[in-house]
Amino acid sequence: MLSRIKDIAASLAPRLIEIRRHLHSHPELSGQEYQTAAYVAGVLSSCGLSIREGVGKVGVVGELAGQAKDPRLLAIRTDMDALPIQERTALEFASRQTGKMHACGHDVHTTVGLGTAMVLSQLGEALPGRVRFLFQPAEEIAQGAGWMVQDGVMDGVSGILSVHVFPSIPAGVIGIRYGALTAAADDLEITIMGESGHGARPHEAVDAIWIASQVITTLQQAISRTHNPLRPVVLTIGQITGGRAPNVIADRVHLQGTVRSLHPETSRDLPRWIEQIVASICQPYGAQYEISYRRGVPSVQNDIALTQLVERVAEAAWGREGIQIIDEPSLGAEDFSIYLQAAPGTMFRLGVGFRDRRNFPLHHPQFEVDETAIVTGVVTMAAAAYQYWQQSQPLLKAASLPA
Ligand code: NI
Repeated sequence: MLSRIKDIAASLAPRLIEIRRHLHSHPELSGQEYQTAAYVAGVLSSCGLSIREGVGKVGVVGELAGQAKDPRLLAIRTDMDALPIQERTALEFASRQTGKMHACGHDVHTTVGLGTAMVLSQLGEALPGRVRFLFQPAEEIAQGAGWMVQDGVMDGVSGILSVHVFPSIPAGVIGIRYGALTAAADDLEITIMGESGHGARPHEAVDAIWIASQVITTLQQAISRTHNPLRPVVLTIGQITGGRAPNVIADRVHLQGTVRSLHPETSRDLPRWIEQIVASICQPYGAQYEISYRRGVPSVQNDIALTQLVERVAEAAWGREGIQIIDEPSLGAEDFSIYLQAAPGTMFRLGVGFRDRRNFPLHHPQFEVDETAIVTGVVTMAAAAYQYWQQSQPLLKAASLPA
């Protein structure tokens, strides 16, 4: 079956590159992917999938029935949005939209999703089970997955696969990561409220700037003494505002930051930990505080069994040299984790790097991909999907590896 999948994908290569270039020329920002969604829906219905549009606001869901011999329903998720970046490549199919660019490869993801639908639909009766294709909007603002899940796209799903391009991995190579792939990313705001007074008479005031400086210092010191160093956590205060004049003691300081962690237990305990520290500093000096801790997306934890499935399929298709085991997770965030709250899944990295020239990073205005990676991605995804039902045991959610 693998060689059949490879043959079909190879025959589709010119069409897939055409699709990707169309998407690349017509980028749309998060939550506004109307043209992209309509285009995706058109391709999916031409392959005979049943489709639903306007799911998760602007998303598209396509379903392939297969033989339905096996009740397990597999989801394949790709994202469709572009970034507010002015493209600076010399490509003939560069963005036609001023200030918008597919600089994170979501045009490639959408193409891989569509290519996988084309390949699996050509397998016809040979496809053992049902596949649901999720084309989500608004990944870059970490909202789209939540919108999709709210609209029920994970109902009945027993496993989910996804992909993200990676320019530092060469095209033709698949990046595999067991356990934590990306971090939980939360927003933090702390307001310290003291009492104003004359700069010459500090004993009559409560100095919010001095207390805020202790809060920042203590958070940074304490985080290294109270958290397991093998479970990464980063707290960054990136913005601080307060005070009105050099000789007036400030009564109010506002701190804003981001908190990243990989291990779910660490992530769970962080709000309480931060509050204890802030309270213990404010209380002796008579300052008040307010903390707003907003949960962003959780950490992506790749399921062991499904990651093994992708690794085996990639090895069968591309040999051992076609696989790179990723030994370090990223402290970036990815809203694929929202789907993983409903079913086990895995995201693999698709190498899109050129072997013979400089590769610009994701979100760079000169980011480009080696398009030969598209067929690699489609074959890997389609073969993993096909193999999903060949596993005799139901895929239960395996315990996550510690980060
Ligand atoms: Ni991305």
